[in-house]
Amino acid sequence: MIVFKKAADIGQFLDQAGKKYSRTGFVPTMGALHQGHISLIEMAKNSGELVICSIFVNPTQFNDAKDFQNYPSTIEKDIDQLEKAGCDVLFLPTVKEIYPDGLINYDPYKLGYLETVLEGKYRPGHFQGVCQVVHRLMTIIPANHLYLGQKDFQQCMVIKKMTELKGLSTKIIICPTLREADGLAMSSRNMRLNEESRAKAVEIFKTLSHIKAVIKPGDLVALKKDAVKKLNDAGFRTDYVEIADAGTLELKDNWNGKDKLVALCAAFLGEVRLIDNMLL
Ligand code: PAF
Repeated sequence: MIVFKKAADIGQFLDQAGKKYSRTGFVPTMGALHQGHISLIEMAKNSGELVICSIFVNPTQFNDAKDFQNYPSTIEKDIDQLEKAGCDVLFLPTVKEIYPDGLINYDPYKLGYLETVLEGKYRPGHFQGVCQVVHRLMTIIPANHLYLGQKDFQQCMVIKKMTELKGLSTKIIICPTLREADGLAMSSRNMRLNEESRAKAVEIFKTLSHIKAVIKPGDLVALKKDAVKKLNDAGFRTDYVEIADAGTLELKDNWNGKDKLVALCAAFLGEVRLIDNMLL
């Protein structure tokens, strides 16, 4: 695996590589890699693409300074895992390399409704930061495919919208959420859970699975309220449990029995905020 730290150097390499590889796959990450990230690398690898991964903890997408400071970093282990998975290129830039003109000097993305609900509502500015960094990364690494995990359901929709707004031709490939044996969605933030919190964390998966098992056409308000109560009783501080249209993310209080839905949840265990979702 070749490691680049400078945008100009990886750009030059990709120009040359373009003569050899007909297709490239890009997996952007913030490091602290787990099997979920590795499954994205494998997906790109199995498609016969030149596989590029980036590790960059993006300061502009953290609405909570403590969350940024505490974001786990396991760079040596990450490099080892990427090499074993057959990743071809790693981009490891500094903040200055990604934001040569400073952190706040950019035009806002017109994300509309998508950034007013769920993560957008509870983490103001988060999706602007995500778009800012992914747009910049995609300019440096103009791959054929961009691989994202379904665990960040709303992020996938936001990045798709950003690529449409900016007329980028990269195709977004959304890969299934990987789960631990008990059902907990794999996440870098799981590393920050202590033993007691780790045991409780599975309640999010159980709550979403329960919604999927019992949902029926008609009123959804009681089902959502009950889910929040169950999580809070189990020791979570719940931001939301919502049911939304899986195509538009329109929040639903009532279901006609036909529309494709997704249940989404965000909740804190101590200082650690976990998110998950399930197609219903
Ligand atoms: O999902 C993530 O890890 C980040 O939001 C991303 C897409 C790498 C942008 O920093």
